[in-house]
Amino acid sequence: MGSHLSSGSAARHEPLEAMSLEPLMTTEYERRPALVFERLRRIHGPVAPVDLLGVPVWLVLGYEEALEVLRNDHEWPKGLENWRAREEGRLPEDWPLGPSLDVNHVLIQGGEGYRNLRAAWDVALKPFQDPRHPQARQLRAKTARDADELITLLSQAGRTGWADLSAQFSRPLPLMVASHLLGFPGSQHDDALMDMWRVLDAGPDAGPALERLLGALAELGAWKMKKPGDDFPSYLLAAHPGLGVEDLSRELMMLLGMTSDHVGILISNTVVEAISGNVSARASLSAGMIRETMNRVVMQKPPLVNFVPRFPVVDTRLGNYTIAAGDPVWVSVGAAHADPEFSDKVCPSSTISTRAHLAWGAGPRQCPARELATSAASIGVSRLFERLSGLELSLPMDQLPWRSSPFMRGLRSLPVRYTLADAPAAPPADAPAPPAAPPSSGQSAAAGDDRPRSSLWRYLASLVRGR
Ligand code: HEM
Repeated sequence: MGSHLSSGSAARHEPLEAMSLEPLMTTEYERRPALVFERLRRIHGPVAPVDLLGVPVWLVLGYEEALEVLRNDHEWPKGLENWRAREEGRLPEDWPLGPSLDVNHVLIQGGEGYRNLRAAWDVALKPFQDPRHPQARQLRAKTARDADELITLLSQAGRTGWADLSAQFSRPLPLMVASHLLGFPGSQHDDALMDMWRVLDAGPDAGPALERLLGALAELGAWKMKKPGDDFPSYLLAAHPGLGVEDLSRELMMLLGMTSDHVGILISNTVVEAISGNVSARASLSAGMIRETMNRVVMQKPPLVNFVPRFPVVDTRLGNYTIAAGDPVWVSVGAAHADPEFSDKVCPSSTISTRAHLAWGAGPRQCPARELATSAASIGVSRLFERLSGLELSLPMDQLPWRSSPFMRGLRSLPVRYTLADAPAAPPADAPAPPAAPPSSGQSAAAGDDRPRSSLWRYLASLVRGR
């Protein structure tokens, strides 16, 4: 570990709350976060005090410092009960991040309860991630089928046309994947998926949508307790029988949010990388190196850009500051990847990119669903490039609209002009047809099919644009 973590001259300084702090979430951060990170690094070094929507926090910008925090869960635990200011009632009641952190699911929790919960997550995800398992094979097949249906729908206007690949492909596809994982009975799932979308967009209808969504997930959880199936909630319950309905719906909400937002961002970013004139990306896609392209994409544009907070157990020196016990520490993976300590060692001309990046986290709390997320995203991107022979951005790269929250960064929309390939290529051979079952809630895109459509499908159909 770099000696700059523990030695050097950490100046005596006033407590975090008394410092004069630069607000992090500015228009500049939304447009060019790299500039903000570099300025903070110049002024403060590898750890900077910032104002996060009215609350003082430490932002970790250095790669070595980020690793130090992520790897040492005992010294830098998660768990809101470890946050001094929160325990002392000093957080503003209307702090915008309060509700999402208070949910306190596996990503946020610390303490003893967490360990059993994380172990149960690992067990419950395994059948969907282990390629030898029938559940994993079925999920791949369903993902390919969903991707094909979405492509058929978005191209209904003609052989060539315009589309917003974010709204019409990258975002709905992972929602559909999440719905397979959750094993919703009947057609109830589509309304829940639309509600998840409303929650993520944080528009005026987000509040009621969240309430409906939590209600639907609690209902689903109660159903799985009575009638377990081959799905994530049933596997999680089997691995952690102590979970109550409310605990379970919190975990399901986390799965739905993480899958739909982050996998969607990964798909869009990979598509941009492949069509933005980066020859090596396109070449590596056609050479079947899609996972390699994705590795480079998550490294350059991590979907989860700042991690949830940790709190040191004792006063600890990090970078040029002493972090007081119980101060909130936000690891910024976006900034850590731009740290010359890391970026200078990455060779941009190599086709094989480093795995030493932090886009999936590091240490004991790293992402347990990396394989599942990469597999779903790579199936989606492969189907797009198989089915569409031409794909061009309809906006210059530097004008693509981004949306940022304190946690994520992704494209708001991905406007493209497409040309359909001559004959639709079949899904890959390793994706066997799913078991015969009627298409759920109108998800078939077969021409002339006039069954009633689900709300998600009707919404997607309304987005189809002509030439
Ligand atoms: C492109 C997609 C994804 C990315 C980039 C991603 C990234 C991450 C990262 C960086 C962490 C660590 C956060 C931290 O240390 O504070 C994490 C944790 C986690 N992720 Fe993912 N993730 C993705 C998809 C998913 C999916 C699809 C699921 C669920 C099916 C999932 C489940 C989790 C869970 C449960 C944790 C918490 C682990 C713990 O604290 O022990 N992730 N993810």
